[in-house]
Amino acid sequence: MKKTILVLLLTTIAMISSGLVMAAGGGYPKSPANVDVDDMASLQRGAKVFTDYCLSCHSAKFVRFNRVADDLGMNEAEVMDNLNHLGVKFGSTMTATMTEEYSKEAFGAVPPDLSLVARSRGVDWLYTYLTGFYADSAKTTGQNNVIFKDVGMPNVFWKQEGVKKPVYEEHDGTKVLVGVEVVEKGTMEPEEFDTMIRDLVAFLSYIGEPNQSYRKSLGIYVLVFLFIFFGFAYAMKKDYWKDVH
Ligand code: HEC
Repeated sequence: MKKTILVLLLTTIAMISSGLVMAAGGGYPKSPANVDVDDMASLQRGAKVFTDYCLSCHSAKFVRFNRVADDLGMNEAEVMDNLNHLGVKFGSTMTATMTEEYSKEAFGAVPPDLSLVARSRGVDWLYTYLTGFYADSAKTTGQNNVIFKDVGMPNVFWKQEGVKKPVYEEHDGTKVLVGVEVVEKGTMEPEEFDTMIRDLVAFLSYIGEPNQSYRKSLGIYVLVFLFIFFGFAYAMKKDYWKDVH
């Protein structure tokens, strides 16, 4: 018995540590996105950035304009005027302007649907990706990315962000990419740019799971219920058992 427990314990430790090694060996380190999906103003700004800068190439075909309006506290006119650039119906889903064939030809890759990207990639990955473009003259787009090597997507924020250069460090004789630095200022201050990207990532996180705020608040109610229920159950148990002793 003791032996079995020891073997189980050792296997568990081995599994956890190999998991950690794999996580650590995942390449470029991700920066924390620190997004707040309960911040309506941030989500509304993020929705605007998304529809202004991303919807031309990417779709979000699980997302309807009217649902976004409901969830983010916007009225129909606000959504139709500010977010719905194609003039589709209020109840329509968000579809890209560009056809898949065209993007394949122009960028060598089809821009994936972004409805669930925050769930497949995670918000930290998205934040690192969207702030991780840097100038690379070897690429046709003139840009490369710290976390998505040789990406086909052009840097849509090159004006706001300015020009970024990669920063390398020597590790055991090999050059390792450790970050980027602004070498030519863009139209936005770095903090302002950062806030815009956080708003955008918050919006992507919201569309990936529109009910997440509700789910979290429901979780708290469930815990409160369980706590109160425990009180009753305990009192009842005491009452039942008092005659047994
Ligand atoms: C000019 C077209 C274009 C625009 C505009 C654009 N993208 Fe892309 N995007 C692409 C292409 C093409 C790819 C595929 C790149 C590849 O596979 O090399 C891509 C890939 C991505 C990926 C990686 C997805 C994955 O999981 O592999 C993300 C995330 C992304 N884009 C987000 C955005 C966001 C957010 C915006 C708006 C700020 C945006 N894109 C604007 C063309 C575009």
